Amino acid sequence: MAAYSSSLSSIFICFLFGSFLISEAVVPANETFRYVNQGDLRFGNDYLDFVSEYAPTYRPLPPFTFPFQLCFYNTTPNAYTLGLRMGTIRSQSVMRWVWEANRGKPVRENATFSLGSDGNLILAEADGRIVWQTNTANKGVVGFAILPDGNVVLRDSRGNFVWQSFDYPTDTLLIGQSLRVRGGPYKLVSRASVTNNVDGDYSFVIEPKRLVLYYKNNMPYWSSTFPELNRKNVTIVNATLVIQESEYEENNYNSLRCNILNGQSWEFPYIDMGQVQYNSSLSYLRLGIDGNLRLYTYRSNVQGGATWKLLYTMFDKSQDDNGMIFEDECHLPNRCGKFGLCKDSQCVGCPTPNGVVEWSEDCNTKSPGCKASGFKYYELKGVDHFTVKYTGGTGPVKRSDCESKCTKDCKCMGYFYHTDRSRCWIAYELKTLSRVGNSTHYAYIKTPIS
Ligand SMILES: *[C@@H]1O[C@H](CO)[C@@H](O)[C@H](O)[C@H]1NC(C)=O
Ligand SMILES: *[C@@H]1O[C@H](CO)[C@@H](O)[C@H](O)[C@H]1NC(C)=O
Ligand SMILES: *[C@@H]1O[C@H](CO)[C@@H](O)[C@H](O)[C@H]1NC(C)=O
Ligand SMILES: *[C@@H]1O[C@H](CO)[C@@H](O)[C@H](O)[C@H]1NC(C)=O
Ligand SMILES: *[C@@H]1O[C@H](CO)[C@@H](O)[C@H](O)[C@H]1NC(C)=O
Ligand SMILES: *[C@@H]1O[C@H](CO)[C@@H](O)[C@H](O)[C@H]1NC(C)=O
Repeated sequence: MAAYSSSLSSIFICFLFGSFLISEAVVPANETFRYVNQGDLRFGNDYLDFVSEYAPTYRPLPPFTFPFQLCFYNTTPNAYTLGLRMGTIRSQSVMRWVWEANRGKPVRENATFSLGSDGNLILAEADGRIVWQTNTANKGVVGFAILPDGNVVLRDSRGNFVWQSFDYPTDTLLIGQSLRVRGGPYKLVSRASVTNNVDGDYSFVIEPKRLVLYYKNNMPYWSSTFPELNRKNVTIVNATLVIQESEYEENNYNSLRCNILNGQSWEFPYIDMGQVQYNSSLSYLRLGIDGNLRLYTYRSNVQGGATWKLLYTMFDKSQDDNGMIFEDECHLPNRCGKFGLCKDSQCVGCPTPNGVVEWSEDCNTKSPGCKASGFKYYELKGVDHFTVKYTGGTGPVKRSDCESKCTKDCKCMGYFYHTDRSRCWIAYELKTLSRVGNSTHYAYIKTPIS
């Protein structure tokens, strides 16, 4: 701009730039909208309204494609999430939130949700401050739609998606939605609690060699093992929730799977999530508040209502061995709270330096402090940490070396040691310890010398 000394040429350039913007503003007037978060709040206490997941109050917005509707909802007064609800008023069961725009960044009363003529979809506070947006201004958007599969899209004139909600999951995947190693989205993140809609402690992540469930981003509590892929040294490209229509003994059924695709091999591993006899195109996979993975299917019935069915739970008490991947609930980090012994999905004890006592919510370790002279270790036999099954630990090392590593590390709360393979795991959080029928597995828990 410094090259143009005359103010006239600057004005001329501004004029050109301005007309360029106008020619790019292509959303037809009847496709733009602006909805304000105000008016009556619904809850579920009269015959017209039904309860939504997390029991919020909510305001439905006009965009609706059966059975999906955008709403402002809040579980805390004056802190609204713009969410996509699945289910209908006529469903005789709780409606579920399967996508949301602004987790962790709630908006207040009178916030606006708008599609401007420039094609940018914006969630803003009443004072105009933008809280969330699709960043699609002047990118050729001509319209907005909620598709029948629950994908919220901004389309260009050729019908391509300039932006789609399927690329921005929070804790839920719908049928046809993918996680991708390159370009993302590469993970689901759990919700902190029913009332607090911020990121929780758990994530479901796609990596080049595996799918992993992490506690706090770095402690795996489950990971897929795809031996055929590892043998051929191929890399995962994406994981997609799909329905596979199949026939078995002349019965048609739909099997729900998380298909793992790669660009190099014809072997496509998948996570089997069960079978249904009905059209299950309305289903979702959820990383729950508790870190568990569950698949739900939605079935419309002839009366115009619908019901939800829980089809698959990865960490489950009852484990039918029919090819599906199941884990004991004891492998959920928080199954027994801050500290507890777990066996067959039950919390069975609270370990203390003086022996195991009855488990309760209060079961915890005492802070060992930092100075090595201020703490000692007590031993537990036949237990594993939740990370042990899916991480290698270090080794072979001597137990004394494993111990001194923990002793020197202030943040280490204890260590786990397998005497048969001389392997060592350092634990920064103890959480749920699984009872294992293996006398070579030991835990050493730090405790203050009182
Ligand atoms: C807007 O108008 C066009 C042309 O009349 C029509 O095809 C389209 O369905 C309208 N969109 C909405 C949201 O009403
Ligand atoms: C929302 O806006 C309306 C006017 O449109 C106003 O009467 C009301 O007080 C506002 N609510 C809040 C909480 O600011
Ligand atoms: C596996 O593949 C990667 C690249 O995709 C390559 O760098 C590595 O050498 C391969 N390993 C084996 C054992 O073939
Ligand atoms: C997933 O990966 C496969 C294999 O590379 C590819 O054909 C497919 O288009 C990908 N799907 C998505 C949704 O990214
Ligand atoms: C299942 O339902 C969807 C719409 O909900 C429809 O598009 C699809 O064709 C149906 N599939 C079968 C096999 O009936
Ligand atoms: C204990 O675990 C090791 C592997 O860590 C295994 O080789 C051994 O057979 C197990 N022993 C029992 C009694 O389960």
